[in-house]
Amino acid sequence: MRDDIQSVLISEEEIQEKVAELGRQLTEEYEGRFPLVVGVLKGSLPFMGDLIKKIDTHVELDLMDVSSYGNEMVSSGEVKIVKDLNTSVEGRDVLILEDIIDSGLTLSYLVELFKYRKAKTVKIVTLLDKPEGRKVDLVPDVAGFSVPDEFVVGYGLDYAERYRNLPFIGILKPEIYQG
Ligand code: XMP
Ligand code: MG
Repeated sequence: MRDDIQSVLISEEEIQEKVAELGRQLTEEYEGRFPLVVGVLKGSLPFMGDLIKKIDTHVELDLMDVSSYGNEMVSSGEVKIVKDLNTSVEGRDVLILEDIIDSGLTLSYLVELFKYRKAKTVKIVTLLDKPEGRKVDLVPDVAGFSVPDEFVVGYGLDYAERYRNLPFIGILKPEIYQG
């Protein structure tokens, strides 16, 4: 698996340091508010698992699975709910966790959906931000790292469902996806 990686972009240590910092920030912000933390499947799972342990106040957890109609590497903007929340967001402080924001289409859809469902507040926390990929005007409230416009894998991010379990973020060798 590791042989498929051309270079490590963000090391395991850098990720863990950042996650701890974001956890401290979110603890301060949400102290006494019981936010609903929504992880977007499947990419946010490692981030969610690590981050929630660094948030030192009550949180409720839920998961949502959405897919965009498009191929694996480009999102089309049309979003399909594959698994909806189990919890009502009405009146809640919702905190969406994402692995990466690229075009911004997935997240802008979710933000609008949660506002329509009468969430009290909706905030976006993403581990990675790829600002060059943006197709809609969407700025995350909290972003861990800004990454260049390259396809990255690891720590939740996949190529053809592989590499999600790498503890770091890396760039794949081109021959892997060029076949
Ligand atoms: P948007 O709607 O912001 O969607 O384009 C973000 C989703 O696109 C996928 N994505 C990536 N997945 N490496 C990945 O493994 C990447 O570099 C990458 N860029 C975008 C990902 O599914 C994310 O949730
Ligand atoms: Mg994905």
